[in-house]
Amino acid sequence: MIEVRAARPEDVAAAGEVCVAAYVTDGHVPAGHWYTAELGDAATRAAEADLLVAVEDGTVVGTLTRAPAGTPWAEVAEPGEHELRMLAVAPVARGRGVGEALVRSALDRARGDGAARVVLTTVEFMGTAQRLYARLGLRRAPDRDWRVETGAALVYVADLVDRPGPRLEVATWPPLSTRMIGPWQLGISAGFTRRGNSAVLLDSQDGALASLDDVEAAYRAAGQRPILRLATDRSPAPAAGPLRAELDARGYRTVSTTRVLARPVRGAGEAGAAASGVDVAPAPDDAWLAGWLGTKTRTSGDVATEVARRLLTGVPARYLTARDRDGVIGVVRAARAGDWVALSCLAVDERARRRGLGRALTLAALGAPDEDGRPAQRAFLQVEIANTAASSLYRSLGFVEVDEYTYAEL
Ligand SMILES: CC(C)(COP(=O)(O)OP(=O)(O)OC[C@H]1O[C@@H](n2cnc3c(N)ncnc32)[C@H](O)[C@@H]1OP(=O)(O)O)[C@@H](O)C(=O)NCCC(=O)NCCS
Repeated sequence: MIEVRAARPEDVAAAGEVCVAAYVTDGHVPAGHWYTAELGDAATRAAEADLLVAVEDGTVVGTLTRAPAGTPWAEVAEPGEHELRMLAVAPVARGRGVGEALVRSALDRARGDGAARVVLTTVEFMGTAQRLYARLGLRRAPDRDWRVETGAALVYVADLVDRPGPRLEVATWPPLSTRMIGPWQLGISAGFTRRGNSAVLLDSQDGALASLDDVEAAYRAAGQRPILRLATDRSPAPAAGPLRAELDARGYRTVSTTRVLARPVRGAGEAGAAASGVDVAPAPDDAWLAGWLGTKTRTSGDVATEVARRLLTGVPARYLTARDRDGVIGVVRAARAGDWVALSCLAVDERARRRGLGRALTLAALGAPDEDGRPAQRAFLQVEIANTAASSLYRSLGFVEVDEYTYAEL
C-alpha cells in the first residue's frame, strides 16, 4: 500500500536521498554535480514548498515538490499555477505506480488549494516520466519550452477543475424514478444502464451500512438486482471501507470501474470550429438513438429505444449528429447543469472511426449553450477504464481524472 503525504520531519532526509539516488542512477545528473546538492536539499523544499513523499511499508520510496507561482521553487509557473518539481522514485520501487500516485496527489492538492493549472518541466530524454504525465492527462505546452544544461526542457500543463460530484452527475443522467433510503439515492430506470439503475451516496456515508437491507428490498420490489455506486481509493470522496467489507460478505461483486474526467471549456473557438457538419437538436430522433444504441452491445430493440429516450430527455440537453451519405455516423449528447456541460453517449460508427470524428463531436459538444444561450465554463464525462480508445481520445483533449467509482452488483 502506497501512501502519499506531506513530508513529516522524519521523512525529509530520506526524501533527499531518494531524490538524489533516482536522478543519479538514471544518469540524469552525474554524481557530484552541483545539482545533486539541490536535489538532496529536501529540508529547504519542505520549508519553502509542499514536499510530498510516497511511503511504502514505512519507507520513503518517492518524492515530489509542489510550488505555487511566485514561491522559491517555482521556475516557470505563472500566476494561478502550481509547479511540480523533482519527481523521483527510488530505483528499487519502480514500476509499482509510485510516480503516478505522487503526481495524482499533487494534482488533487493543487486543485484543493484553488490552483487553476499545474505546470512542470521535463527534459527530452525522460521518456518514462513523459508517458506518465500523458497518462494522467497533462498535455504539452510547446510554446513554453526552454533549455537546460542537458537538453531541451519540455513543459507540460494540466488545467484543473473541481469534480462535479455525484449529485451533478445524477442530475445530468436522471433516472426515470428515484427514491431516498438513508443516504442512498436509488435510481430505477427499467434496468437500462447501470447509471440509471444504481444507488448513489449523494453527500454523506452516514447510515449507508444500516440502510443496506432496505436498499436491497426496494430493488427486489422493483424486480431488479441491487447495484451500488461506490467511490474507489482514487476518489476524493471518503473511502467505502467498512461498507465494502459488508458487501463482500453479502456476495456483491465489483464491476466496471469508471472515471470521471473534467476540463475547463476554453471559449467558443475550438467548439465552433468542430461543429461544422454536425447537426444539433434539442431531442434525440430515432436515427440518433440508433446511432448511440448501435455501440451498446447489451441493449437492442424497441423497448430499449423507448426507455433510452425517456431516460435521456429527463433533463434539457443537446443531441449532436454527424452524417455521411449513408446515414448517421456519429452522435454525442451534451446536458447542461449550471456552468457545467456533461458529455455522454459519444459513439462513432465502426466504419467511420479513426478519422477525427470522435474528437470533433466531443469538441462540438463543449459548445452546447444552456437554455438562456450561455456557454459552459467546464465539462465532465464518464468513461470506463477498460475503454482505452475513448480514454485516449479524452486525454488528448485535455480532460483529466477528477473522480473514480465502481459498481457493486449483487
Ligand atoms: C471512442 C470513439 C468514439 C472514438 O471515435 P473516433 O472517431 O474513432 O475517434 P477519433 O478518430 O476522433 O480519435 C481521436 C483520438 O482518440 C484516440 N483514439 C481513438 N480511437 C482509438 C483507439 N482505438 N485506440 C487508441 N486510441 C484511440 C487517438 O488518440 C485518436 O487520435 P489519432 O487517430 O490521431 O491517433 C469510438 O471508438 C467509439 O464509438 N467507441 C464505442 C463507443 C464509446 O466507447 N464511446 C465512448 C463512451 S465514454
